[in-house]
Amino acid sequence: MLLRIDRQSPKPLYKQITDEIKTLIDQGVTGTNMPLPSTRRLAKKIGVNRSTVIRAYEELQALGYLKSKPGSYNKIQKRRKEVKYNPRRKSLIDWEKYSNYRAKEIYEIFLRYSPESPIKTNFKATASNISQLDLYPRLYPMEEFRRCVNHVLHENGSESLEYGTYKGYEPLRRIIAKRLRLHGIAVSEEEILITNGAQQAIDLIIRMLAAPNRKVAVESPTYANILPIMQFNGVKIQGIPMREEGMDLDYLEKTLEKEMLSFIYTIPNFQNPTGITTSHQHRERLLNICLTHKVPLVEDGFEEDMKYYGKVPLPIKSIDDKNVVIYLGTFSKALFPGLRIGWITADKECIERITAIKRFSDLSTGNLAQMVLYEFLKRGYYDLQIRRLHRIFRRRMQIALKTMEECLPRTVSWTRPSGGYTIWVKIHKKLTEIELHEFMSEYSVIVSPGSYYFPRKRSSGYFRISIAKSNEQEIEKGIARLGKALHSLS
Ligand SMILES: Cc1ncc(COP(=O)(O)O)c(C=O)c1O
Repeated sequence: MLLRIDRQSPKPLYKQITDEIKTLIDQGVTGTNMPLPSTRRLAKKIGVNRSTVIRAYEELQALGYLKSKPGSYNKIQKRRKEVKYNPRRKSLIDWEKYSNYRAKEIYEIFLRYSPESPIKTNFKATASNISQLDLYPRLYPMEEFRRCVNHVLHENGSESLEYGTYKGYEPLRRIIAKRLRLHGIAVSEEEILITNGAQQAIDLIIRMLAAPNRKVAVESPTYANILPIMQFNGVKIQGIPMREEGMDLDYLEKTLEKEMLSFIYTIPNFQNPTGITTSHQHRERLLNICLTHKVPLVEDGFEEDMKYYGKVPLPIKSIDDKNVVIYLGTFSKALFPGLRIGWITADKECIERITAIKRFSDLSTGNLAQMVLYEFLKRGYYDLQIRRLHRIFRRRMQIALKTMEECLPRTVSWTRPSGGYTIWVKIHKKLTEIELHEFMSEYSVIVSPGSYYFPRKRSSGYFRISIAKSNEQEIEKGIARLGKALHSLS
């Protein structure tokens, strides 16, 4: 067997051997059932370590090219033929017909949101995208993360790949509890449940608390992705208008005088989409309303760590000595959204009950990710990341607001957030999401349509911009394009 090995090539030797043998088999140069030389012989012949040949043979075996029995030579075997995939094959089942009506509704929304949706494909590849709320990937601390992954695989080994415990990896819960205590929230790890992102936390809470005869109150506008999941769970939504200072509490009180609610959902810091942060007084009054009416308050602290201007009141959970607040957090907004790790903290019994739902939904959150994240936090890398992001986003937000002052017409108004990533823009014309996208595509700028964020609204005179996934130049360019678009609109 003649193998060509190039010692100067960056390709590892075992890979070169694998590929060479693969080619010989694929081209029929070596016949089926032919034994390969022993690893010792081949190693000697081509002048490499025996372990290199063993690795190559293992790879070939994994790829289905070899059959081997313990103690015998490796023999070449015919590879199992892949069946041909036919993308046009139709199902006998009409899935639309078989889907229940809630599944149909959520599918329709899913198609509207998808990147392939016809309204989104109008944009040129060079369009400025100032709509996304996930962190600029070049700000991911990859090297530190890699070190933690290696450490965990080395130190925790197979444990990191077992099913995790129902509530989540205990050291991680302990370190999160400690961090929460620094934010004024007095909890222990027993009152924390790790979830697959804050999104799953919200879904679990809805499933636990929603009842057919009771509505859930949300700020209007609110975080768009909770609306479909509420609808899917059969929840009726009561929008409470959002004012400059936060949720309209008079309106909320009037609602509660008329009917019981399953829970109230609020985002007190850098609210998505408006960017509004509520005052301490507002937080106190909201909590008092919940205490008076004995209604749970779900506080979404998704950007708790993005207080880059300082001066943000402590979470409502920090003044909740009657345990009515269910607080959620996530590592998606200041670290990696793809890690899918968030958490809920609440009264112990409430956590136990939510844990039961989670246990039968997904068995557990990925152990490896939790262990690596724990290591990342323990080493102080997360704190370093936060400090770095504060420096960067303080400046990016200043640039965004300054560019808006310079470029946007006087007929337009917007919020001035005290942290986080989003700015909420009010225009004088109501547009549907399609109209807004079509209009903005002429100016090559993508924003997030306001109608996404209101329960039951198809058009709105608002849209959201986000600086999370753009650098300084991209922010300036995007807002300059936005300015041109809005001037033409007025
Ligand atoms: C207000 C709010 N809550 C929760 C989430 C979900 O975050 P996660 O990635 O942790 O599921 C988001 C995501 O954008 C959000 O904006």
